[in-house]
Amino acid sequence: MEVNICKSYEELSKKAAQLVADVINQKPNAVLGLATGSSPVGLYKELIRMHKEEGLDFSQVVTFNLDEYVGLPADHPQSYHYFMEENLFKDINVPKENIHIPSGTTKNYKAFCEWYEQRIKECGGIDIQILGIGSDGHIAFNEPGSSLSSRTRLKTLARQTIEDNARFFDKVEDVPIYAITMGVGTILEARRLVLVANGEKKADAVAKMIEGPVTSMITASALQLHPDAHVFIDEDAASKLTMRDYYDWIQEKKPGAPVQ
Ligand code: GLP
Repeated sequence: MEVNICKSYEELSKKAAQLVADVINQKPNAVLGLATGSSPVGLYKELIRMHKEEGLDFSQVVTFNLDEYVGLPADHPQSYHYFMEENLFKDINVPKENIHIPSGTTKNYKAFCEWYEQRIKECGGIDIQILGIGSDGHIAFNEPGSSLSSRTRLKTLARQTIEDNARFFDKVEDVPIYAITMGVGTILEARRLVLVANGEKKADAVAKMIEGPVTSMITASALQLHPDAHVFIDEDAASKLTMRDYYDWIQEKKPGAPVQ
């Protein structure tokens, strides 16, 4: 796992966005895995800037979102469909038919989840997956205890997650209890992973993800199993890492490493 500790949220967002842009520039029909939550908003702002100012082209890009709340229609202001439209899609040129987001209103969740997995395969697999991390260490909605080989499925949200996400709703009772989410196994199949996290509230989860054992109790720790995972965090989110000196040392010495 490559650990990048950045001075600010802006810096980490820009660096993470650059990795995504590199993939699109190398492969114009790249398949992007997208995340919601407040963490990737800066990354999306930077992608929008690159699109508008530098001509970053999404016209052949295909996207798959990680998750969606069960019961929220696409036009609900707290749905992840709505979030993606507002924070990214309305400002870039990705064709509507190339966008995939799990349905929160399907009549048959099992069939939908199977279709979603199949669709990712048909599109050639995810080239780069953007991720945030929950304060309980989850990725997407893979709550503690989720199998590290899990696939897209319906999940019951943890109380902690419901409380964390209540800030976006009028009251905690309005937060859906269930979600449809890509599994940890699905996420691990992406060719490259990019996780962004900021703020002290994420410090414990970040330390467990990077330095703790690989465990289904912290599903983000599964990133340790991935050969090409990049983590971008700010000073606050990095504050509980014990190997801090080493991560700084690696970043400092990296430019001098022999070219492979
Ligand atoms: C939700 C999402 C996750 C996200 C997490 C953290 O639970 N399903 O994908 O990483 O929230 O959100 P935030 O970035 O707002 O802290």
